[in-house]
Amino acid sequence: MTRTHRHLMLAAGVAAISAAAMAVAPAGQALDRLSFVTAWLCLLFFAGTLLIGPLQVRRTGRLPGNHLLRRDLGIWCVITGMVHFFLAFKVSMNLEYMAIYVRGAEAWPAPAVRELMYRWAVLASLVIAVLFMLLLALSNNLAIRLLGKRWWKRLQRVSYAAFALTVGHSIAFQILEARNGWLVAAFIVITAAVLIAQYAGRARLRGSDHAPEL
Ligand code: HEM
Repeated sequence: MTRTHRHLMLAAGVAAISAAAMAVAPAGQALDRLSFVTAWLCLLFFAGTLLIGPLQVRRTGRLPGNHLLRRDLGIWCVITGMVHFFLAFKVSMNLEYMAIYVRGAEAWPAPAVRELMYRWAVLASLVIAVLFMLLLALSNNLAIRLLGKRWWKRLQRVSYAAFALTVGHSIAFQILEARNGWLVAAFIVITAAVLIAQYAGRARLRGSDHAPEL
C-alpha cells in the first residue's frame, strides 16, 4: 500500500466515524460528540505510534529507523487531536459546561478540586497542542536532513511528554464527566498497553548496542 492510499484510508475512516457519531447524537449535541470522538481517535492513533517501536524491537530485536506507518499514524494523531482541541474550546470552555461539570457539579470530588482539575487539564492541553505542532514539523524527511538524526530523535522524544500530558488530561475529564465503566476500562487498557510495551521494548534493548529510544 502506498502512503497516499494509507492517508486516504485513514481520512475516510476518520470521516466515516465522525459522521456516524454526529448523525446519532441527540439534537444540538453533534459538536460535543465530534469533540469526544476525535479525542478518542487521537488517543488511539497516539497509542498506535508508541506501540510500533516496541513491536518492531520484539520482532527484529532492533530499533526501527524511519518508520513510515508510525509517521502517518502520528500525523493523524495530531490532526484528530487538533480538531478535538478547537471543538473542545467551543463546547467546554463556557459557563454552561462549568455549571454542569465543574463549579455546579454535586458529584465527587468537591467543586474546588474539580475546578483545579479543569484548569490543569486545559493548561496541559495547551502544552500538548504546542508539542503536537513541533512533532508535526518533525514528521518529514526534510526535518531529519536539516536537524541530523541525533537532534531529530532528541526533539522527537517530546512525544513521551505529550503522551503523559494526554493521559493526565484524559483522567481529569473522565472524572469530571463521570465516564462509564467501559470507557474507563478502555482508557486503562490503552494506556497500560503503551506503558508495558515501552517498558518491555526498553528491557529487550538494554544491554544491546542500540540506545533505548522507541
Ligand atoms: C491537543 C490537545 C488535546 C488532546 C490531545 C486531548 C485529548 C483528550 C482525550 C484523549 C480525551 C478522552 C478522555 C475522555 O473524555 O474519555 C479528552 C477529553 C476531553 N477533553 Fe481533551 N484534549 C486536548 C485538548 C482539549 C482542550 C483545549 C479542551 C478544552 C477545555 C479539552 C476538553 C476536553 C473535554 C471536555 C473532554 C471530555 C470529552 C468531550 O466532551 O470531548 N481538551 N481529551
